[in-house]
Amino acid sequence: MAHVNENYLKLPGNYLFATIAKKVDEFSKANPDANIIRLGIGDVTRPLAPAIIDAMHKAVDEMGKTETFRGYGPEQGYDFLRNAIIKGDYETRGIELDTDEVFVGDGAKTDVACIQEIFGSDLKFAVADPVYPVYLDSNVMTGHTGSWNVEKGIYDGVVYLPCTAENGFKALPPTEKVDIVYLCNPSNPTGTAMTTAELESWVQAAKENKFIIIYDSAYETYITEPNVPHSIFEIPGAKEIAVELRSYSKCAGFTGTRCSYVIVPKACTGYKADGTPVELNPMWNRRQCTFFNGTPYIIQRAAEAYYSPEGQKQCLADVNYYMENAHIIRNGLTKAGFTVYGATNSPYAWVQTPHGMKSWDFFDLLLEKAHVVTTPGTGFGPHGEGYLRLTAFGSKENTIKAIQRIADLKLFK
Ligand code: MLT
Repeated sequence: MAHVNENYLKLPGNYLFATIAKKVDEFSKANPDANIIRLGIGDVTRPLAPAIIDAMHKAVDEMGKTETFRGYGPEQGYDFLRNAIIKGDYETRGIELDTDEVFVGDGAKTDVACIQEIFGSDLKFAVADPVYPVYLDSNVMTGHTGSWNVEKGIYDGVVYLPCTAENGFKALPPTEKVDIVYLCNPSNPTGTAMTTAELESWVQAAKENKFIIIYDSAYETYITEPNVPHSIFEIPGAKEIAVELRSYSKCAGFTGTRCSYVIVPKACTGYKADGTPVELNPMWNRRQCTFFNGTPYIIQRAAEAYYSPEGQKQCLADVNYYMENAHIIRNGLTKAGFTVYGATNSPYAWVQTPHGMKSWDFFDLLLEKAHVVTTPGTGFGPHGEGYLRLTAFGSKENTIKAIQRIADLKLFK
């Protein structure tokens, strides 16, 4: 008799974006003429940059010739990409890393969901609330939480760090003892970003209280303000307490192409039950060697091309395109009477629902009356109640149309 992992049964519903997709699908079937605009899931719409496509074509041709064909690659990623990452994303910001501190993956969602496996079964963790659901759900599945508390809409045993309008949607370090904290900066979903000074206080707190920060900087290319750090390793001493994850999904349009990386500094340690420090880097390496056979060669060549001068120029043009949409959302909804946060260092706008409406009710209203898909704030945690997230990853034309449709509902008149 195969016993199932009952931790899965603690999950109260489907994955957030699967629930939304199902709702939209049902609406679309019932209203086949509705021209639905999707500003829900943060999925890019611009095609891959020409420099990336060229690199992929070249790599495809290499795979077709005996002399240049590649079989299994290194589980940690090819050195050509690992070194390009160090040079392009870190050395330019004065951060030194060794090649073996970089682990190339097939998407930050996978990396961030799996990183908790190298910690003990008694792991206590904290998350911002609201937060990207993968941090939480992956830990639920592994058994790092208590049950779903229906009344409170949270998991027992998890430390939630409220992000509210009052604290600028910026989580403060936990006051109770935890082992790891997930931080997303700039934040998904609120689109707000911690400054260097704020992150310094986090690094200080992590050192004092011996917790590790799992730092997700998937949206770092969208930072426009100079006082917002692009990497946690810009903060002195952070290598001892942080692991950083990045993705090519949002900076280079790889949502369907899949590539990411994790930096596990050799200085970063966890502890054995007797208090002996243990380096995380060889543990993650061991995990990857067992579970993973590397990101495809063609995809790693594509990611490498992101760092070429043309790749950088072309991808930045797409980021700027999306940021223009972010401003259209922010300005258009503000003009229509909404209170809007984020969308300055991020492709996400965090919008307060009108007249205290519940997130899902407002989601339904926008779908039914404006044919616009959004993401309800409560999908990201209880402190997301009363908010919706809108993504800037649509086309400019659709973004303008969607905001006009929402404004035309005249919800504040
Ligand atoms: C989101 O919409 O939050 C993201 O696109 C989901 C993801 O990156 O997995």
